[in-house]
Amino acid sequence: MTTTHAPKILFVDDIPALCEEMVTTLRGEQLDADSNLSPLAAIPEIVQGKYDLVITGLVIAELGGFEIIRRIRGAGCRTPIIMITGFGTEQSAIEAARLGVADYLTKPIERKELIARVKRVLKQYATPQTEQPGSLVRMISGDPKMNEIFEKVKTIAPTDSRVLILGETGCGKQLLAHAIHQQSQRKQEPYVEVNCAAIPANLLESELFGHEEGSFTGATKRRVGRFETAGQGTIFLDEIGELGFDLQSKLLHVLDNGKFTRVGGNKELRSSARLVSATNRDLMKEVELGRFRADLYYRLNVISIELPPLRRRPGDIGLLAQHFINQFVPKGSQPPTFTPSTVEVLRRYPWPGNVRELQNVAEQLAVLNRGPRIEATDLPSRILQARPVETISPTAQRQVQLGFRKAKDQFEKEYLLTIIQQANGNLAEAARLAEMDRGQFYRLAKRHGLTTNTDS
Ligand SMILES: Nc1ncnc2c1ncn2[C@@H]1O[C@H](COP(=O)(O)OP(=O)(O)OP(=O)(O)O)[C@@H](O)[C@H]1O
Ligand SMILES: [Mg+2]
Repeated sequence: MTTTHAPKILFVDDIPALCEEMVTTLRGEQLDADSNLSPLAAIPEIVQGKYDLVITGLVIAELGGFEIIRRIRGAGCRTPIIMITGFGTEQSAIEAARLGVADYLTKPIERKELIARVKRVLKQYATPQTEQPGSLVRMISGDPKMNEIFEKVKTIAPTDSRVLILGETGCGKQLLAHAIHQQSQRKQEPYVEVNCAAIPANLLESELFGHEEGSFTGATKRRVGRFETAGQGTIFLDEIGELGFDLQSKLLHVLDNGKFTRVGGNKELRSSARLVSATNRDLMKEVELGRFRADLYYRLNVISIELPPLRRRPGDIGLLAQHFINQFVPKGSQPPTFTPSTVEVLRRYPWPGNVRELQNVAEQLAVLNRGPRIEATDLPSRILQARPVETISPTAQRQVQLGFRKAKDQFEKEYLLTIIQQANGNLAEAARLAEMDRGQFYRLAKRHGLTTNTDS
Protein backbone atom coordinates (compact mmCIF):
# COMPACT_ATOMS: atom_id res chain seq x y z
CA MET A 1 0.00 0.00 0.00
CA THR A 2 1.27 3.45 -0.74
CA THR A 3 0.27 6.35 1.42
CA THR A 4 0.17 9.86 0.04
CA HIS A 5 0.89 12.81 2.25
CA ALA A 6 -0.83 16.14 1.96
CA PRO A 7 1.49 19.02 1.03
CA LYS A 8 1.88 21.65 3.73
CA ILE A 9 0.61 25.14 2.94
CA LEU A 10 1.03 28.34 4.94
CA PHE A 11 -1.17 31.41 4.51
CA VAL A 12 0.33 34.67 5.76
CA ASP A 13 -1.96 37.66 6.35
CA ASP A 14 -2.82 39.88 9.31
CA ILE A 15 -6.61 39.71 8.98
CA PRO A 16 -7.80 36.84 11.22
CA ALA A 17 -11.10 36.32 9.37
CA LEU A 18 -9.26 35.92 6.05
CA CYS A 19 -6.86 33.42 7.57
CA GLU A 20 -9.67 31.35 8.96
CA GLU A 21 -11.54 31.33 5.67
CA MET A 22 -8.44 30.31 3.70
CA VAL A 23 -7.48 27.51 6.09
CA THR A 24 -11.04 26.12 6.09
CA THR A 25 -11.19 26.21 2.28
CA LEU A 26 -7.86 24.41 1.82
CA ARG A 27 -8.48 21.84 4.53
CA GLY A 28 -11.80 21.10 2.87
CA GLU A 29 -9.67 19.82 -0.02
CA GLN A 30 -7.60 17.56 2.26
CA LEU A 31 -4.71 20.00 2.06
CA ASP A 32 -2.62 20.48 5.20
CA ALA A 33 -3.07 24.24 5.65
CA ASP A 34 -2.07 26.62 8.41
CA SER A 35 -1.95 30.38 8.80
CA ASN A 36 0.24 32.93 10.48
CA LEU A 37 -0.77 36.50 11.30
CA SER A 38 2.84 37.62 11.67
CA PRO A 39 5.19 37.61 8.67
CA LEU A 40 8.21 38.07 10.94
CA ALA A 41 7.33 34.91 12.84
CA ALA A 42 6.48 33.01 9.65
CA ILE A 43 9.66 33.74 7.65
CA PRO A 44 12.11 31.61 9.71
CA GLU A 45 9.73 28.65 9.49
CA ILE A 46 9.33 29.06 5.73
CA VAL A 47 13.09 29.34 5.27
CA GLN A 48 13.61 26.13 7.24
CA GLY A 49 11.57 24.43 4.56
CA LYS A 50 8.56 23.53 6.72
CA TYR A 51 6.10 24.31 3.93
CA ASP A 52 5.62 23.16 0.36
CA LEU A 53 3.70 26.30 -0.61
CA VAL A 54 3.25 29.79 0.84
CA ILE A 55 0.29 32.02 0.09
CA THR A 56 0.69 35.62 1.11
CA GLY A 57 -1.26 38.85 1.03
CA LEU A 58 0.29 42.01 -0.42
CA VAL A 59 -0.58 44.65 2.18
CA ILE A 60 0.32 43.55 5.69
CA ALA A 61 1.08 46.13 8.38
CA GLU A 62 4.04 44.33 9.92
CA LEU A 63 5.78 43.51 6.63
CA GLY A 64 4.39 43.77 3.10
CA GLY A 65 4.07 40.75 0.79
CA PHE A 66 6.94 41.82 -1.51
CA GLU A 67 9.29 42.24 1.43
CA ILE A 68 8.28 38.80 2.72
CA ILE A 69 9.22 37.29 -0.65
CA ARG A 70 12.53 39.21 -0.81
CA ARG A 71 13.53 37.96 2.63
CA ILE A 72 12.57 34.36 1.86
CA ARG A 73 14.46 34.38 -1.44
CA GLY A 74 17.35 36.30 0.12
CA ALA A 75 17.79 33.39 2.52
CA GLY A 76 18.07 31.08 -0.46
CA CYS A 77 14.65 29.46 0.03
CA ARG A 78 12.80 28.63 -3.19
CA THR A 79 9.49 27.43 -1.78
CA PRO A 80 6.78 28.40 -4.29
CA ILE A 81 4.74 31.47 -3.37
CA ILE A 82 1.27 32.55 -4.44
CA MET A 83 0.40 36.19 -3.90
CA ILE A 84 -3.19 37.30 -3.32
CA THR A 85 -4.22 40.93 -3.29
CA GLY A 86 -7.26 43.14 -3.22
CA PHE A 87 -5.13 46.09 -4.28
CA GLY A 88 -3.66 44.72 -7.47
CA THR A 89 -2.15 47.15 -9.94
CA GLU A 90 -0.32 46.39 -13.14
CA GLN A 91 2.86 47.48 -11.44
CA SER A 92 2.44 45.14 -8.50
CA ALA A 93 1.74 42.26 -10.90
CA ILE A 94 5.02 43.04 -12.70
CA GLU A 95 6.93 43.23 -9.43
CA ALA A 96 5.40 39.91 -8.33
CA ALA A 97 6.53 38.31 -11.59
CA ARG A 98 9.99 39.79 -11.20
CA LEU A 99 10.30 38.27 -7.74
CA GLY A 100 9.37 34.92 -9.22
CA VAL A 101 6.01 34.25 -7.57
CA ALA A 102 4.38 31.07 -8.82
CA ASP A 103 0.97 32.72 -9.22
CA TYR A 104 -0.64 36.10 -8.59
CA LEU A 105 -4.37 36.38 -7.85
CA THR A 106 -6.54 39.45 -7.43
CA LYS A 107 -9.69 39.51 -5.34
CA PRO A 108 -12.48 38.60 -5.55
CA ILE A 109 -11.39 35.01 -6.08
CA GLU A 110 -13.85 32.20 -6.48
CA ARG A 111 -13.26 29.27 -4.19
CA LYS A 112 -13.04 26.83 -7.11
CA GLU A 113 -10.55 29.01 -8.92
CA LEU A 114 -8.37 29.32 -5.81
CA ILE A 115 -8.25 25.55 -5.28
CA ALA A 116 -7.42 24.93 -8.95
CA ARG A 117 -4.55 27.44 -8.91
CA VAL A 118 -3.14 26.08 -5.63
CA LYS A 119 -3.22 22.51 -6.95
CA ARG A 120 -1.60 23.54 -10.21
CA VAL A 121 1.31 25.21 -8.41
CA LEU A 122 1.76 22.23 -6.06
CA LYS A 123 1.84 19.83 -8.99
CA GLN A 124 4.25 21.96 -10.98
CA TYR A 125 6.73 22.23 -8.11
CA ALA A 126 6.44 18.64 -6.90
CA THR A 127 7.78 17.22 -10.17
CA PRO A 128 10.66 19.33 -11.48
CA GLN A 129 11.06 18.53 -15.19
CA THR A 130 14.82 18.21 -14.90
CA GLU A 131 14.61 15.04 -12.86
CA GLN A 132 14.15 12.46 -15.56
CA PRO A 133 16.58 9.80 -14.51
CA GLY A 134 18.99 8.18 -16.89
CA SER A 135 21.10 5.22 -15.88
CA LEU A 136 24.33 3.39 -16.54
CA VAL A 137 24.81 0.01 -14.85
CA ARG A 138 24.53 1.03 -11.15
CA MET A 139 24.69 4.77 -11.76
CA ILE A 140 21.61 6.93 -12.01
CA SER A 141 21.25 10.60 -12.82
CA GLY A 142 18.67 13.21 -13.69
CA ASP A 143 21.20 15.76 -14.85
CA PRO A 144 21.64 16.48 -18.57
CA LYS A 145 25.47 16.71 -18.25
CA MET A 146 25.61 13.30 -16.57
CA ASN A 147 23.27 11.76 -19.10
CA GLU A 148 25.59 12.99 -21.85
CA ILE A 149 28.43 11.24 -20.03
CA PHE A 150 26.39 8.03 -19.83
CA GLU A 151 25.83 8.21 -23.59
CA LYS A 152 29.52 8.82 -24.20
CA VAL A 153 30.42 5.81 -22.04
CA LYS A 154 28.01 3.59 -23.95
CA THR A 155 29.82 4.61 -27.15
CA ILE A 156 33.40 4.25 -25.95
CA ALA A 157 33.03 1.27 -23.59
CA PRO A 158 33.11 -1.39 -26.35
CA THR A 159 36.38 0.01 -27.79
CA ASP A 160 39.85 -0.75 -26.40
CA SER A 161 40.73 2.89 -25.81
CA ARG A 162 42.23 3.92 -22.51
CA VAL A 163 40.03 6.12 -20.37
CA LEU A 164 41.02 8.71 -17.79
CA ILE A 165 38.27 9.70 -15.33
CA LEU A 166 38.62 13.01 -13.54
CA GLY A 167 36.49 14.41 -10.75
CA GLU A 168 36.38 15.46 -7.13
CA THR A 169 36.28 12.92 -4.33
CA GLY A 170 33.05 10.94 -4.01
CA CYS A 171 31.52 11.91 -7.33
CA GLY A 172 31.37 8.39 -8.78
CA LYS A 173 34.70 7.73 -10.54
CA GLN A 174 35.01 4.20 -9.24
CA LEU A 175 31.44 3.35 -10.13
CA LEU A 176 31.96 4.77 -13.61
CA ALA A 177 35.14 2.75 -14.17
CA HIS A 178 33.24 -0.42 -13.33
CA ALA A 179 30.38 0.62 -15.61
CA ILE A 180 32.86 0.98 -18.49
CA HIS A 181 33.98 -2.60 -17.94
CA GLN A 182 30.40 -3.84 -17.65
CA GLN A 183 29.45 -2.18 -20.92
CA SER A 184 32.48 -3.53 -22.76
CA GLN A 185 33.03 -6.77 -24.63
CA ARG A 186 35.48 -7.71 -21.88
CA LYS A 187 32.75 -7.98 -19.28
CA GLN A 188 33.17 -11.77 -18.92
CA GLU A 189 36.91 -11.23 -18.29
CA PRO A 190 38.42 -10.11 -14.98
CA TYR A 191 37.91 -6.61 -13.61
CA VAL A 192 40.81 -5.63 -11.37
CA GLU A 193 40.97 -2.49 -9.24
CA VAL A 194 44.16 -1.09 -7.76
CA ASN A 195 44.07 1.93 -5.48
CA CYS A 196 47.51 3.46 -6.01
CA ALA A 197 47.11 5.67 -2.92
CA ALA A 198 46.31 2.81 -0.57
CA ILE A 199 49.41 0.68 -1.22
CA PRO A 200 52.82 1.77 0.14
CA ALA A 201 55.07 2.96 -2.69
CA ASN A 202 57.68 0.22 -2.12
CA LEU A 203 55.07 -2.52 -2.50
CA LEU A 204 53.13 -1.06 -5.39
CA GLU A 205 55.45 -2.31 -8.12
CA SER A 206 55.11 -5.88 -6.90
CA GLU A 207 51.35 -5.41 -6.52
CA LEU A 208 51.05 -4.30 -10.13
CA PHE A 209 53.59 -6.55 -11.83
CA GLY A 210 54.15 -9.38 -9.32
CA HIS A 211 57.49 -10.65 -8.03
CA GLU A 212 59.68 -13.74 -8.13
CA GLU A 213 60.54 -15.72 -5.04
CA GLY A 214 63.43 -14.16 -3.08
CA SER A 215 63.43 -10.96 -5.12
CA PHE A 216 63.35 -8.88 -1.93
CA THR A 217 63.19 -9.47 1.82
CA GLY A 218 59.82 -10.97 2.58
CA ALA A 219 59.24 -12.26 -0.97
CA THR A 220 59.00 -15.86 0.13
CA LYS A 221 56.86 -17.02 -2.77
CA ARG A 222 56.36 -15.98 -6.36
CA ARG A 223 53.47 -13.57 -6.63
CA VAL A 224 51.27 -12.88 -9.63
CA GLY A 225 50.67 -9.15 -10.11
CA ARG A 226 47.45 -7.34 -10.93
CA PHE A 227 48.30 -6.81 -14.61
CA GLU A 228 48.61 -10.57 -14.96
CA THR A 229 45.37 -11.19 -13.06
CA ALA A 230 43.52 -8.75 -15.29
CA GLY A 231 44.37 -10.88 -18.32
CA GLN A 232 42.15 -9.83 -21.22
CA GLY A 233 39.88 -7.83 -18.90
CA THR A 234 40.06 -4.31 -17.50
CA ILE A 235 42.53 -2.94 -14.99
CA PHE A 236 41.40 0.16 -13.11
CA LEU A 237 44.20 2.24 -11.61
CA ASP A 238 42.51 4.49 -9.11
CA GLU A 239 44.24 7.61 -7.69
CA ILE A 240 46.80 7.44 -10.50
CA GLY A 241 48.01 10.94 -9.55
CA GLU A 242 49.67 9.41 -6.47
CA LEU A 243 52.02 7.22 -8.53
CA GLY A 244 55.72 7.92 -7.85
CA PHE A 245 58.08 8.90 -10.69
CA ASP A 246 59.79 5.54 -10.79
CA LEU A 247 56.55 3.63 -11.27
CA GLN A 248 55.31 6.18 -13.78
CA SER A 249 58.23 5.17 -16.03
CA LYS A 250 57.50 1.48 -15.56
CA LEU A 251 53.83 1.97 -16.35
CA LEU A 252 54.75 3.98 -19.42
CA HIS A 253 56.85 1.06 -20.61
CA VAL A 254 53.89 -1.34 -20.27
CA LEU A 255 51.60 1.03 -22.12
CA ASP A 256 54.11 1.49 -24.93
CA ASN A 257 55.13 -2.13 -25.42
CA GLY A 258 52.44 -4.15 -23.70
CA LYS A 259 55.31 -5.92 -21.91
CA PHE A 260 56.47 -6.13 -18.30
CA THR A 261 58.52 -8.32 -15.97
CA ARG A 262 57.87 -9.41 -12.41
CA VAL A 263 60.07 -7.76 -9.76
CA GLY A 264 63.30 -9.78 -9.59
CA GLY A 265 62.42 -11.71 -12.76
CA ASN A 266 63.62 -11.48 -16.33
CA LYS A 267 60.88 -13.27 -18.21
CA GLU A 268 58.89 -10.85 -20.33
CA LEU A 269 55.16 -11.06 -19.82
CA ARG A 270 52.51 -9.51 -22.05
CA SER A 271 49.53 -7.50 -20.92
CA SER A 272 46.46 -7.05 -23.06
CA ALA A 273 44.22 -5.62 -20.35
CA ARG A 274 42.40 -2.42 -21.04
CA LEU A 275 43.49 0.41 -18.78
CA VAL A 276 41.06 2.78 -17.09
CA SER A 277 42.50 5.25 -14.60
CA ALA A 278 41.13 7.95 -12.32
CA THR A 279 42.28 10.78 -10.13
CA ASN A 280 40.82 13.64 -8.14
CA ARG A 281 43.94 15.72 -8.82
CA ASP A 282 44.26 18.17 -11.67
CA LEU A 283 46.61 15.91 -13.60
CA MET A 284 47.48 18.52 -16.23
CA LYS A 285 48.62 20.80 -13.42
CA GLU A 286 50.70 17.96 -11.96
CA VAL A 287 52.36 17.71 -15.37
CA GLU A 288 53.02 21.47 -15.40
CA LEU A 289 54.51 21.23 -11.90
CA GLY A 290 56.80 18.43 -13.06
CA ARG A 291 55.25 15.86 -10.74
CA PHE A 292 53.62 13.73 -13.42
CA ARG A 293 55.24 12.60 -16.67
CA ALA A 294 53.67 14.36 -19.63
CA ASP A 295 54.22 11.33 -21.92
CA LEU A 296 52.37 9.08 -19.46
CA TYR A 297 49.58 11.63 -19.10
CA TYR A 298 48.94 11.63 -22.85
CA ARG A 299 48.95 7.84 -23.02
CA LEU A 300 46.42 7.54 -20.19
CA ASN A 301 44.26 10.33 -21.47
CA VAL A 302 43.10 8.92 -24.78
CA ILE A 303 39.49 9.45 -23.77
CA SER A 304 38.85 11.67 -20.80
CA ILE A 305 35.67 11.86 -18.81
CA GLU A 306 35.18 14.60 -16.29
CA LEU A 307 32.51 13.93 -13.70
CA PRO A 308 30.96 17.20 -12.49
CA PRO A 309 30.77 17.72 -8.72
CA LEU A 310 27.32 17.20 -7.19
CA ARG A 311 26.78 20.93 -6.54
CA ARG A 312 26.90 21.50 -10.31
CA ARG A 313 24.18 18.97 -11.03
CA PRO A 314 21.27 20.14 -8.88
CA GLY A 315 18.91 17.85 -10.79
CA ASP A 316 20.65 14.88 -9.16
CA ILE A 317 20.39 15.88 -5.53
CA GLY A 318 16.72 15.03 -4.85
CA LEU A 319 16.84 12.02 -7.12
CA LEU A 320 19.93 10.45 -5.55
CA ALA A 321 18.80 11.30 -2.01
CA GLN A 322 15.54 9.40 -2.56
CA HIS A 323 17.38 6.57 -4.35
CA PHE A 324 19.68 6.07 -1.34
CA ILE A 325 16.82 6.34 1.19
CA ASN A 326 14.98 3.59 -0.69
CA GLN A 327 18.12 1.44 -0.46
CA PHE A 328 18.70 2.01 3.23
CA VAL A 329 15.22 1.42 4.73
CA PRO A 330 14.73 -2.10 6.07
CA LYS A 331 13.05 -4.49 3.61
CA GLY A 332 9.28 -4.43 3.78
CA SER A 333 8.96 -0.93 5.22
CA GLN A 334 7.75 2.04 3.29
CA PRO A 335 10.63 4.48 2.57
CA PRO A 336 9.97 8.04 3.76
CA THR A 337 9.83 10.70 1.07
CA PHE A 338 11.60 14.04 0.87
CA THR A 339 9.24 17.01 0.76
CA PRO A 340 9.94 19.43 -2.12
CA SER A 341 11.09 22.02 0.39
CA THR A 342 13.56 19.56 1.93
CA VAL A 343 14.99 18.98 -1.53
CA GLU A 344 15.34 22.75 -1.91
CA VAL A 345 17.42 22.87 1.27
CA LEU A 346 19.56 19.95 0.08
CA ARG A 347 20.23 21.81 -3.16
CA ARG A 348 21.54 24.82 -1.30
CA TYR A 349 24.32 22.85 0.37
CA PRO A 350 27.59 22.64 -1.61
CA TRP A 351 28.27 18.91 -0.94
CA PRO A 352 32.07 18.96 -0.62
CA GLY A 353 32.05 15.14 -0.25
CA ASN A 354 29.77 14.83 -3.31
CA VAL A 355 27.61 11.72 -3.79
CA ARG A 356 29.32 9.80 -1.00
CA GLU A 357 28.40 12.54 1.48
CA LEU A 358 24.79 12.55 0.25
CA GLN A 359 24.71 8.77 0.60
CA ASN A 360 25.89 9.04 4.23
CA VAL A 361 23.27 11.68 5.03
CA ALA A 362 20.56 9.51 3.46
CA GLU A 363 21.68 6.54 5.52
CA GLN A 364 21.45 8.56 8.74
CA LEU A 365 18.01 9.81 7.78
CA ALA A 366 16.77 6.33 6.88
CA VAL A 367 17.91 5.03 10.26
CA LEU A 368 16.71 7.95 12.38
CA ASN A 369 13.54 9.01 10.60
CA ARG A 370 10.32 7.56 11.93
CA GLY A 371 7.72 9.51 9.97
CA PRO A 372 6.53 9.16 6.38
CA ARG A 373 8.07 12.47 5.31
CA ILE A 374 11.54 13.92 5.69
CA GLU A 375 11.23 17.56 6.60
CA ALA A 376 14.02 20.11 6.21
CA THR A 377 14.31 20.29 10.00
CA ASP A 378 15.30 16.59 10.05
CA LEU A 379 18.48 17.43 8.12
CA PRO A 380 21.87 17.83 9.83
CA SER A 381 22.47 21.42 10.91
CA ARG A 382 25.45 21.97 8.57
CA ILE A 383 23.06 21.41 5.66
CA LEU A 384 20.20 23.48 7.11
CA GLN A 385 22.53 26.41 7.69
CA ALA A 386 24.38 26.30 4.39
CA ARG A 387 24.69 29.54 2.51
CA PRO A 388 22.81 29.26 -0.78
CA VAL A 389 25.10 28.77 -3.77
CA GLU A 390 22.86 31.13 -5.77
CA THR A 391 23.78 34.08 -3.58
CA ILE A 392 27.28 33.91 -5.06
CA SER A 393 27.05 35.60 -8.47
CA PRO A 394 27.59 33.36 -11.53
CA THR A 395 30.57 35.51 -12.55
CA ALA A 396 32.20 35.05 -9.16
CA GLN A 397 31.50 31.29 -9.31
CA ARG A 398 33.17 31.06 -12.73
CA GLN A 399 36.13 33.09 -11.50
CA VAL A 400 36.61 30.85 -8.49
CA GLN A 401 36.74 27.86 -10.82
CA LEU A 402 39.39 29.52 -12.96
CA GLY A 403 41.88 29.85 -10.11
CA PHE A 404 43.32 33.15 -8.92
CA ARG A 405 45.87 33.79 -11.66
CA LYS A 406 43.56 33.17 -14.60
CA ALA A 407 40.69 35.05 -12.91
CA LYS A 408 42.97 38.05 -12.36
CA ASP A 409 44.09 37.90 -15.99
CA GLN A 410 40.52 37.76 -17.18
CA PHE A 411 39.51 40.67 -14.98
CA GLU A 412 42.45 42.78 -16.17
CA LYS A 413 41.66 42.16 -19.80
CA GLU A 414 37.96 42.96 -19.42
CA TYR A 415 38.76 46.05 -17.38
CA LEU A 416 41.23 47.35 -19.97
CA LEU A 417 38.87 46.65 -22.86
CA THR A 418 36.03 48.55 -21.20
CA ILE A 419 38.13 51.53 -20.28
CA ILE A 420 39.79 51.72 -23.72
CA GLN A 421 36.32 51.66 -25.28
CA GLN A 422 35.20 54.43 -22.93
CA ALA A 423 38.19 56.48 -24.03
CA ASN A 424 37.29 55.86 -27.70
CA GLY A 425 40.48 53.92 -28.23
CA ASN A 426 42.73 56.69 -26.93
CA LEU A 427 45.23 54.90 -24.69
CA ALA A 428 46.53 58.04 -22.97
CA GLU A 429 42.99 58.98 -22.05
CA ALA A 430 42.24 55.40 -20.96
CA ALA A 431 45.31 55.45 -18.70
CA ARG A 432 44.08 58.71 -17.18
CA LEU A 433 40.59 57.23 -16.57
CA ALA A 434 42.16 54.18 -14.96
CA GLU A 435 44.27 56.46 -12.75
CA MET A 436 47.35 54.59 -13.91
CA ASP A 437 50.77 55.62 -15.03
CA ARG A 438 50.78 55.77 -18.85
CA GLY A 439 53.77 53.46 -19.33
CA GLN A 440 52.36 50.93 -16.92
CA PHE A 441 49.01 51.06 -18.71
CA TYR A 442 50.63 50.53 -22.15
CA ARG A 443 52.62 47.57 -20.90
CA LEU A 444 49.57 45.94 -19.39
CA ALA A 445 47.49 46.56 -22.53
CA LYS A 446 50.29 45.12 -24.65
CA ARG A 447 50.55 42.03 -22.49
CA HIS A 448 46.85 41.38 -23.09
CA GLY A 449 47.27 41.93 -26.83
CA LEU A 450 45.17 45.10 -26.81
CA THR A 451 47.65 47.40 -28.51
CA THR A 452 49.23 47.54 -31.92
CA ASN A 453 52.97 48.22 -32.03
CA THR A 454 52.40 51.79 -33.11
CA ASP A 455 50.48 52.50 -29.91
CA SER A 456 53.49 52.32 -27.67
N1 LIG B 1 25.32 8.40 -10.12
C1 LIG B 1 25.32 7.58 -9.06
N2 LIG B 1 24.29 6.76 -8.84
C2 LIG B 1 24.28 5.95 -7.75
N3 LIG B 1 25.27 5.88 -6.84
C3 LIG B 1 26.33 6.68 -7.01
C4 LIG B 1 26.43 7.57 -8.14
N4 LIG B 1 27.60 8.23 -8.07
C5 LIG B 1 28.22 7.79 -6.96
N5 LIG B 1 27.47 6.86 -6.31
C6 LIG B 1 27.82 6.21 -5.04
O1 LIG B 1 28.53 7.18 -4.27
C7 LIG B 1 29.65 6.62 -3.60
C8 LIG B 1 30.93 7.32 -4.06
O2 LIG B 1 31.21 6.98 -5.41
P1 LIG B 1 32.67 6.50 -5.91
O3 LIG B 1 33.33 5.67 -4.85
O4 LIG B 1 32.51 5.92 -7.26
O5 LIG B 1 33.35 7.94 -5.96
P2 LIG B 1 34.86 8.32 -6.33
O6 LIG B 1 34.78 9.46 -7.27
O7 LIG B 1 35.61 7.10 -6.75
O8 LIG B 1 35.41 8.83 -4.93
P3 LIG B 1 36.95 8.96 -4.42
O9 LIG B 1 37.63 9.99 -5.27
O10 LIG B 1 36.77 9.45 -3.01
O11 LIG B 1 37.53 7.60 -4.51
C9 LIG B 1 29.63 5.14 -3.92
O12 LIG B 1 29.01 4.45 -2.87
C10 LIG B 1 28.80 5.05 -5.19
O13 LIG B 1 28.15 3.81 -5.24
MG1 LIG C 1 37.32 6.15 -5.83
